[in-house]
Amino acid sequence: MLRDDMADTMITAQEIQARVAELGQQISADYAGQDLLLIAVLKGGVLFLTDLMRHISVPHAIDFMAISSYGHSTETTGVVRILKDLDDPIDGRNVLIVEDIVDTGRTMDYLLRILNARRPASLRVCTLLSKPSRRELDVPLDYVGFDIPNEFVFGYGLDLRELYRDQPFIAALRPEYYGASLQELLEGSE
Ligand code: PRP
Repeated sequence: MLRDDMADTMITAQEIQARVAELGQQISADYAGQDLLLIAVLKGGVLFLTDLMRHISVPHAIDFMAISSYGHSTETTGVVRILKDLDDPIDGRNVLIVEDIVDTGRTMDYLLRILNARRPASLRVCTLLSKPSRRELDVPLDYVGFDIPNEFVFGYGLDLRELYRDQPFIAALRPEYYGASLQELLEGSE
């Protein structure tokens, strides 16, 4: 793991698990008796999806999309493209998009537009994290785990130079390391 002075814990594993359980209960109540399809956005949304679905008591299917907007930078490039599309059609289905984070909103805006065009019965969004201060496009968020400030965060699905997605907590990289390469970060770690 990184040295303690490189990053700070923003949301603990316990806080995440408690909130994910709450969201699962809320979603279960809202979709009671309905067909439900969860669409997770790779790669960041994977840990959230697998924990969340274990708290959703309504029978549900899952599918995956991969959309890239950040590349390997700590700052968004604004570029959105499909890396992997869904396996199946979604027309007539109740679709819930599961994301790790909504930042500028560009990715979610794009996703909502292309998925709405496929005529689902309903389309909602569940994101673990939201950075309201960064929003460039006003996207409707139906379920939000945590509103967070504008810091570079990683852990629980989110990466720091593609590493640390496995960590059970959300950490914030200290600003003095935003420009550091992976090699520089790892050389400074134990
Ligand atoms: C992250 C995140 C969202 C997007 C949000 O993905 O998972 O999809 O950025 O940013 P936006 O609101 O500014 O569009 P990223 O491109 O980092 O890919 P990853 O999940 O594979 O790490």
